[in-house]
Amino acid sequence: MTFEHLLAERIQGMSASAIREILKVVAQPGMVSLAGGIPAPESFPLDIMQELTQRVIDHYGPAAFQYDRTEGFAPLCEALVGHLAHKGVPATADEITIASGSQGVLDAIGKLLISKGDPVAVEAPTYLGAIQAFNPYQPEYVCLETDDQGLIPASLEQVLRTTPVKLIYLVPTFQNPTGRTIPLARRREIARLIQKHNALLVEDDPYSDLRYRGEPVPPIKALAPEHVVYISTLSKTFAPGLRIGFCVAPPTIRRWLVLVKQGVDLHTSTFNQALAAEYISGGYLARHLPTILSLYRPRQEAMLQAMDRYFPAGFNWSHPEGGMFLWAEGPEGLDAAEFYECCIACNVAFVPGKYFYTEPGAGLATMRFNYTMIDEPAIDAAVRTLAEVYSEQMSR
Ligand SMILES: Cc1ncc(COP(=O)(O)O)c(C=O)c1O
Repeated sequence: MTFEHLLAERIQGMSASAIREILKVVAQPGMVSLAGGIPAPESFPLDIMQELTQRVIDHYGPAAFQYDRTEGFAPLCEALVGHLAHKGVPATADEITIASGSQGVLDAIGKLLISKGDPVAVEAPTYLGAIQAFNPYQPEYVCLETDDQGLIPASLEQVLRTTPVKLIYLVPTFQNPTGRTIPLARRREIARLIQKHNALLVEDDPYSDLRYRGEPVPPIKALAPEHVVYISTLSKTFAPGLRIGFCVAPPTIRRWLVLVKQGVDLHTSTFNQALAAEYISGGYLARHLPTILSLYRPRQEAMLQAMDRYFPAGFNWSHPEGGMFLWAEGPEGLDAAEFYECCIACNVAFVPGKYFYTEPGAGLATMRFNYTMIDEPAIDAAVRTLAEVYSEQMSR
């Protein structure tokens, strides 16, 4: 008995992520991975965690272990007001909703807004986790064109003029997978367009705190507050295993998001939210963030320098000022999936970029490289191996 006949129609849109398969390969002994997309374990503030655990028990007692409001643990919502203001998102505690990671918000958005066949506009390439969150609700994806500066506003305008999209999903800052950041002038144009067409933008912002150089760019939420659901997370600046994400949504959307979430998990872990509240309000986040930045900054620089040093002509790559990823495009005709197989044989893994496109056949020559998981000498050696494998492939 397989029970296949019992499965709901919506599972047709669901599939195991190709990246999960790649991550299994990465777990093989001796493999050096530029494939993952996760924070370095040494970035987790374990000493602070111990202190916070005691603080939470002292401050909140049994309340930290009790059922709580679906909207979010009140002290965390209050602590996030200042954190969000610092990121350029004005919000009161009542406007903030906590979820089990940004992923929890993305799923709730899908459930709330997407009916089968609804058009949903996404950047090409886009974040795979959002596609996985939306797929069970069976949308039709509409691709938005991008260049080195992220979304091209004219492409958004064209889509908004011709298609009644339910939502637009963007990662405007240090995007996963490309590392690109949409500059301010484009953000203003995007804000103008969504206002003009009365459209709803989902702005996913997990990476803006990880800025190694340059000046912060205001979130689109600050430019068109009524038209944007802004999502962020503590996964990259505290610990992803705590599953603390949050959003600021227009009032109607927020009301429904809370109802949707109630049916899923009643609320996010009270204890973890209390840890997060103390992490922010006690000034620990502000003190620990520089440690995370000083861990990742040299790793990113090592990757950029290694790419300059070893990569042959014909390759282009992004030069982000922060985040966790670099995006490379090989010469026309390069099959990055085939290249990946050769690199795996030499014990270096990355993610072929085609997996981040919703259109089959797109991005065949592209690749995503992560630099947060290994140290500078290992990054240099891995990039060098990639370049050597490529030269060997070419000479054959
Ligand atoms: C663009 C983007 N959104 C959301 C997430 C998920 O984050 P969380 O751990 O908060 O669910 C990630 C994680 O890699 C991401 O890259």
